[in-house]
Order: sequence, then C-alpha cells, then structure tokens
Amino acid sequence: MIYAEILAGGKGTRMGNTEMPKQFLMLGNKPIFIHTVEQFLMNKRIEKILICCPEQWVSYTKDTLKKYISDTTKVIVVKGGETRNDTILNGCHFIEKNYGIQDDDIILTHDAVRPFLTQRIIDDNIDGTLKYGAVDTVVEAFDTIVHSKDGKIITDIPVRNEMYQGQTPQSFNIKLLMSFFNSLTDDEKNILTDACKALVIKGIDVHLVKGEVSNIKITTQYDLKVANGLVEENK
Ligand code: CTP
Repeated sequence: MIYAEILAGGKGTRMGNTEMPKQFLMLGNKPIFIHTVEQFLMNKRIEKILICCPEQWVSYTKDTLKKYISDTTKVIVVKGGETRNDTILNGCHFIEKNYGIQDDDIILTHDAVRPFLTQRIIDDNIDGTLKYGAVDTVVEAFDTIVHSKDGKIITDIPVRNEMYQGQTPQSFNIKLLMSFFNSLTDDEKNILTDACKALVIKGIDVHLVKGEVSNIKITTQYDLKVANGLVEENK
C-alpha cells in the first residue's frame, strides 16, 4: 500500500496570535490543509491519506473535510503527537493496528502547511521510496549557508554546491521507519527532530528527490501573504 500522511499536528506558534493552528487558516477560498489533501487525492497511486491533527481538532478537521471534499473515502483523520516525529509515528501505529504492515508498504509524510507540492514531486517520492526505502525532498541552497555555533561568530561556511534545503515529502518504507524509531533511546528521540536526520545518523542511506522552490512551507504571516499571492497567480 502507498500511504500519504499529512502532518497537521502542530500549533503554528510562529504564525503569531491566530484563532486556530495555521494549517486551518484560509488560503484563497479554502483552508491550507485542504489544498494539501487535494494534491494527494489527485494522485491515483496514493491509496490512503491520513491527516494527523491535534486531538482537540479531530472533529473540526473531519467536518472541514466534508465541507470541501466531495469524496472522503480515502481520507482518515488521526490524532497527532507532541512532536513532529511523534505525529509521524502515531500515523504509522494507526496503520499497523488497522491495516497491518506489509514489507513493501510505504508512507509519504508531508507538512500540511506545504500546499504547493506537485504531482511530479509525489511521483518521484513514490518511485524513489519503492526503490531505495527512504527519500527526502530538497532544493539546492541558493544562499550561502553560514554555520555559527554561538550565534555570534562564524564557525564554518560549508561549500554551497553541496548544500540543499530540506522540504517535504519525506518518504519511507514503513517497516524500515518503525523498526528504526523503535531502536532509538528517549534522549536520541529528543535530539533527532527530523526523521531523515535520524536515519542518516544511524547509517541508513536516504536518497534525494528534487523539490521545487514553489513548494514553500507556510510558517509566518509573511509566508501566508506570499502563498495567497501564488494562489491568485495560479487562478
Ligand atoms: N507538526 C505535526 N505535529 C507536531 C508538530 C508539527 O504534525 N507535533 C506539523 C505541523 O502541523 C506542520 C509541519 O509539522 O504542518 C511543519 O512544522 P512547523 O512548520 O514547525 O509547524 P508548527 O510546529 O505548527 O509551527 P511552530 O514551530 O511555529 O509552532
């Protein structure tokens, strides 16, 4: 089975004071997360779509889905977790409990707040994960990356053409991801906030999939303005 897991379990604190977590805010004529769900629904290779949201937003998410999407049979709303990795794992545990996990089952984990992903990115994630077991979506770094340990003095300036910016989806063979997460200590879980970083540190190859500059993550009010501009332009 090919699953998509839409990560909508965050609070969106960097968005400032909003009445609801940012994934539920309007972008154009529908909530941000609905744009994201629609992209996955459009791809016929995706067999089930999990939306993982904060527990207190589960019924709101279900109602909103029904309001905007005519056929929701492929979509399931599940509660997220304390951290982003916990949210990813909650989705995997839900799959394990309800459908069982086969050797070749894969999951595309994607930020609910990246509504501009493309069908090409989804297809490349599916192909890459079926072939390699783990992939991360990235774009080349345009700006020089400056590394500073103390935030005051430059520690290092890495070679720019070896630098990439991470996006999502991050996609995995589900058995590989779960066996690996189960092997982490609590301390490791706290440090390894990015699922791909966690695999890399344990020596597992994570292959790159080309993202798009337009596959932006909506983090701040400024990003929301940019995203609204993109929606207007795409009309
Ligand atoms: N996310 C999640 N579960 C969490 C934390 C984050 O599913 N416990 C999701 C967010 O909902 C978002 C994505 O991960 O779609 C990317 O995270 P980020 O942009 O950092 O979202 P928030 O944690 O909500 O934002 P902030 O850090 O500003 O509070």
